Amino acid sequence: MQNPELLTGQVLLTHANPFDAPATEALTVERRGAVLIDGGRIVATGTAEALRKENPQAKTTDYGDALILPGFIDAHVHYPQTGIIASWGKRLIDWLNSYTFPEEMRFGDAAYAQGVADRYLDLTLANGTTTVCSYCTIHPQSVDAFFSAAIARGLRAYAGKTCMDRNAPDGLRDSPQSAYDDSKALLERWHGQDRLEYVITPRFSPTSTPDQLNALGALWAEHPDCLMQTHLSEQVDEIAWVRGLFPNARDYLDTYETHGLLGARGLYGHAIHLEAREKDRLREIGAGLVHCPTSNTFIGSGLFDMAGLMAAGQPIGLATDTGGGSSFSMLRTMAAAYEIGQLRGTPLHPAQLLWLATAGSAQVLHASNKIGRIAPGYEADLCILDLASTPAIAQRATRAKDIWEQVFPTIMMGDDRAIMAVYAGGKKQIGT
Ligand code: GUN
Ligand code: ZN
Repeated sequence: MQNPELLTGQVLLTHANPFDAPATEALTVERRGAVLIDGGRIVATGTAEALRKENPQAKTTDYGDALILPGFIDAHVHYPQTGIIASWGKRLIDWLNSYTFPEEMRFGDAAYAQGVADRYLDLTLANGTTTVCSYCTIHPQSVDAFFSAAIARGLRAYAGKTCMDRNAPDGLRDSPQSAYDDSKALLERWHGQDRLEYVITPRFSPTSTPDQLNALGALWAEHPDCLMQTHLSEQVDEIAWVRGLFPNARDYLDTYETHGLLGARGLYGHAIHLEAREKDRLREIGAGLVHCPTSNTFIGSGLFDMAGLMAAGQPIGLATDTGGGSSFSMLRTMAAAYEIGQLRGTPLHPAQLLWLATAGSAQVLHASNKIGRIAPGYEADLCILDLASTPAIAQRATRAKDIWEQVFPTIMMGDDRAIMAVYAGGKKQIGT
């Protein structure tokens, strides 16, 4: 071993999908546990007592009653929307035109893009998030800025150039050929470097011509190990717009399917208003859906059917959708997912919420063997959660009868004050 480090505290262990197995068996907590890390990876987990004895040479940090869990994984974000988060009063299409597109226009300036990328990753790290999957803007320099910022912080990160060749303002459109060429060049520059992965990124069907969708479908076919991300069935008006733009399509998903943009490595954000054929097809393919609860309530999109889709075996991850989403925090995002579950009559267990924000998102990113769990061999991306970070949370948590009742107040009421420390690739990025 090179430089072993032992972190002790309450350790969250993930054994199975808590939507398939009883939630409290799928995830368990070692009350006096420890995680041994070395060379950027998790080497062992166990009781603090045993691992201390076996590794007397390891530098030990005791986090007491805090919960050591995998760093949060935010499977759908728009880092360029950092500066316009919490913009008032519009629904999707007006929100894009009024707030999003004018801001994204500014990312042609590489220095501006770098400033926002740095600020964004500082904010997400402070909130316990160690991996995000981000849309950039149409400008290649917005991708360079994001990946440079991720490398500087030692993060596993996913991102791609957003492609749009219609229904976007002047200065924010590419073409089928330039989208293909720029995406390919960025993919060749960044994909596989360090812990970075390039994601092919058509924004959504309304802002791409069939020619552009075809070009990106062809690029994906040439690079089948890449992920592809887009938006699907977020708002009713958007679906009607898609129907008008693609009169021959069977449904919204078909606009991707017929252009080579439906696959197991596809990530489809929102997916609220799905038709039966779309649900069947997504499940059959094993594509990933990404639930963005604070965005869905903030932009007024609707209530995602987590329970129904999970019961059918659909892979689903969790995300902020910053800045349509109203938070950088995956704690706040889990709280919103809980509230949407309540409105549908299907409350999610705290173990299910924590799973979605870690292993669930890892699964849709096809990184289940690398991140999202605390287990030997996994990358040492960890978040240490203070379960009594404010007086309001502390007074509730002290009454808890078990760990799930102890952690739930932090899920519902916690923010960046609950984040005691964050490790990325074994290096402490947040905390003293
Ligand atoms: N659909 C297409 N683009 C976007 C976006 O930037 N945010 C959200 N929430 N939905 C979209
Ligand atoms: Zn989005």
